[in-house]
Amino acid sequence: NWTMEEFIGKEIARIREICGPKGRVIGAVSGGVDSTVAAKLMHEAIGDRFHAIMVDNGVLRLNEAQQVDVMLNKDLGVNLTVVDASELFLSRLAGIEDPEQKRRAAEEEEKGAEAKGRVEWLLQGTLYPDVIESISFKGPSATIKTHHNVGGLLKDMKLKLIEPLRELFKDEVRALGRLLSIPAQLVGRHPFPGPGLAIRILGPVTRDQVKILQLADNIYIEEIRKAGLYDQIAQAFAVLLPVKAVGVMGDQRTYEQVIALRAVQSEDFMTADWFSFPADVLRRISSRITNEVAGINRVTYDISSKPPATVEWL
Ligand code: XMP
Repeated sequence: NWTMEEFIGKEIARIREICGPKGRVIGAVSGGVDSTVAAKLMHEAIGDRFHAIMVDNGVLRLNEAQQVDVMLNKDLGVNLTVVDASELFLSRLAGIEDPEQKRRAAEEEEKGAEAKGRVEWLLQGTLYPDVIESISFKGPSATIKTHHNVGGLLKDMKLKLIEPLRELFKDEVRALGRLLSIPAQLVGRHPFPGPGLAIRILGPVTRDQVKILQLADNIYIEEIRKAGLYDQIAQAFAVLLPVKAVGVMGDQRTYEQVIALRAVQSEDFMTADWFSFPADVLRRISSRITNEVAGINRVTYDISSKPPATVEWL
């Protein structure tokens, strides 16, 4: 039995000890709860010897890199550099349709962080369930999704790994975040996968497709927040389908893409139920997306539970 205050004290002491008086640490941050909490904890322990790096891989949500920049640098006082790798990343992703390849391409980008030099340690916001999942992934059924947070990335890097959240569950990370004065909006934020929008664009990932999805997703989340439903949902996001559906505008037929909306309630994401929206909220979201997002003429709502579906579409 332990309290979160004890955990903070113990973990800060442990970090200081293993890094020594001069050790430098870098860590990729995503703007998500885990990496932000891990970064803030690191900052509390070793101050400016911790340096956070955010790689803009071109498949983030709308304005996300700018928002994270403000939050970490200004609000939390953590050293942060945003690296714009969207050109390189999108050019690599363009031809890839296989979801596992999309995941691996996303990991590759973060290796850029190594170039900072004189750094010995790499921070990762790995949680306890990630540790468990990646162990079970080594079983014979290799068809389960690879997990972004553990392993792979480190193979070609000479950095030693530091994982302060390794023993914690998600709700414990949130409690820790509150104690570390991380803004409530961020602490309560829905999870976002490491490979980003790349696994929510079911066809080729291009800048145009990313833009369409970013705009649709942003409207969706904005309306969910306005309706006061955000905290009742474990995860909500839009998915861009690679099919063209017929529509009508004036006296013209249109052939445009379809957005699928996903929203689930879940305790641990191992199982999940689709969320029952009030009809008027769905109506408003659909009408805004079809009116405001060029290239979309149809919006559908995903009513599949996990299992047999998964939360993500890829
Ligand atoms: P699934 O689709 O497996 O998703 O039901 C369960 C939870 O895991 C997230 N997820 C990922 N997170 N890299 C990540 O960092 C991934 O490749 C990945 N795939 C799924 C998903 O968003 C959901 O919260």
